[in-house]
Amino acid sequence: MRNKLNIGLFGFGVVGSGLYEVLNQSQLLDARITKIVVKDPSKKRSIPSDNFSFDGTEILDNNEINVVVELINDSSAAYEIVKKALQNGKHVVSANKKLIAEHLSELIELASENSVSFLYEAAVGGSIPIIRNLEEYYNNDSLSSIQGIVNGTTNYILTQSNDGIAYNEALKKAQELGFAEADPTLDVDGFDSKFKLVLLIKHAFGLTIDPKDLFNYGIRNIKPNDVAFAGEKGYRIKLFSRAEKLNDKVVGLVAPHFVSQDHFAYQVNNEFNAVVVEAVFSDKQLFIGKGAGSYPTASAVLSDISALQFDYKYEYKKTRKEDQLKFTEDFFLKVYIGSSFIEAINEIPFYRIDEVYQSENYNYQTGWVKFSEVSKFNLNHRPELSLIVLPEPFKSVKEFNAVRSESRHFVVEY
Ligand code: HSE
Repeated sequence: MRNKLNIGLFGFGVVGSGLYEVLNQSQLLDARITKIVVKDPSKKRSIPSDNFSFDGTEILDNNEINVVVELINDSSAAYEIVKKALQNGKHVVSANKKLIAEHLSELIELASENSVSFLYEAAVGGSIPIIRNLEEYYNNDSLSSIQGIVNGTTNYILTQSNDGIAYNEALKKAQELGFAEADPTLDVDGFDSKFKLVLLIKHAFGLTIDPKDLFNYGIRNIKPNDVAFAGEKGYRIKLFSRAEKLNDKVVGLVAPHFVSQDHFAYQVNNEFNAVVVEAVFSDKQLFIGKGAGSYPTASAVLSDISALQFDYKYEYKKTRKEDQLKFTEDFFLKVYIGSSFIEAINEIPFYRIDEVYQSENYNYQTGWVKFSEVSKFNLNHRPELSLIVLPEPFKSVKEFNAVRSESRHFVVEY
C-alpha cells in the first residue's frame, strides 16, 4: 500500500524551487508540499510569499507532516533540522552531502532508532541513480572499484579550460548556472567530491570514513601549461572521486586525473557527472547524467520521495557483510607534477622517476609516489605545484616493489 506523504520543505533555492515544480508536474505521486520554510523573508521568490514560513518548528512540530525534505545550503543548520526531524519520527530526504558525510553514522542510527527512512540519492551525482543501485543492485556482486566525476562545477570549469576559457570566468558562469556551492571552495578544492565519495564508499564497500581521513585535492592549481601537457599527450583532465579494492584493503582519494581518449570520462563534459562501477562478475558499468542544476537534482529528490511511498529504507547490507575491509593510504600511484620551480617539484618524494622536463618557466616530472607521503602535502594551498594522477593503475606496496628496480634515477628504501 502507498503511504500518503505530507512534505515539509526546508529551502527554496535552486533545488527546492526545482522540486516544487517537478512535484507539481508529477501526476504519479500521492505527495504534497504542506509547508515551505525559508531563511530570508526579504528574498524575492517565484511563487507568492504566503507559501512561506520562517519558523522551522512549523514543520518539525507539525504532526501532519510525515516527510521532511531538507534542501538548504547551510550544513550546520541542516544538521539540526535533519536530527530533529528524525527524532520527531519523520522520514527525511536530503541532498546535503557535507552534512550527511560528516554525520553519517549518527544519522543512520537516529533513523533506525525512530523507525524512519533517511534517503539522499540527490547528494551524489545529481540525477544519476547511483546510491540506490549500489545499495540494491550490486548487493550480491562483489564490487572492486567505483570512480567518477561527481562534481558538476569543476567538470564545467575543466571543460571550458579546454577551449581556453580562464578559470575565474568559467567559475563565475558555473555560479550563475546554479551548479556551484554557496562557498565554491568546496567545489574547486575537491571537498564536495570528497563528501560524495564518503557516501559512495559507504554504499559500495560498507566502510564508514570520516571525511577528515580522506584526501581531497581539487583543480585550483591547474595551469595552462598542465592543460597543454594534457593536449600534447592526448589526455583531458578530470577531477575524480575514486575508491577501489587493492588486495584486501580499500584505497580512495579525490584528485585531478589525466584521462585518455578511450576512457569513459574523456567525453563527459560540462556539468555532466559519470560514475563507473566495477564488479567481479558484471565487469564495468557506466552511469552518466547531469550532476548539478535545478531539475536534475530535484528529479533525484523526487525519486526518494516516491520511494517513501513504499517505506523504502537503505539497509547498508554491505556494512554487515564486508566489515572486515580496511581503508589504507599505503599504495603507490603514478603522477605528473608541474611547476615553474624545480625546487618545488624536488620536494615531492618520488620512488621512481619516469620523465623529466625542465625549461625556464615550466618544469614537470612524472613517476611513482607513495600516496601516504603525498597526501601529507597541503596541495590545495600550494599554488606553485600541480599534481595530476596519470592513467596507470594504482599499485600495492608489494606490486610496486616488484617493478621499482626499473627506476632509472633512484630508489628510496622504506
Ligand atoms: N556544487 C555541486 C556540483 C552541486 O557542482 O556538483 C551538486 O551537488
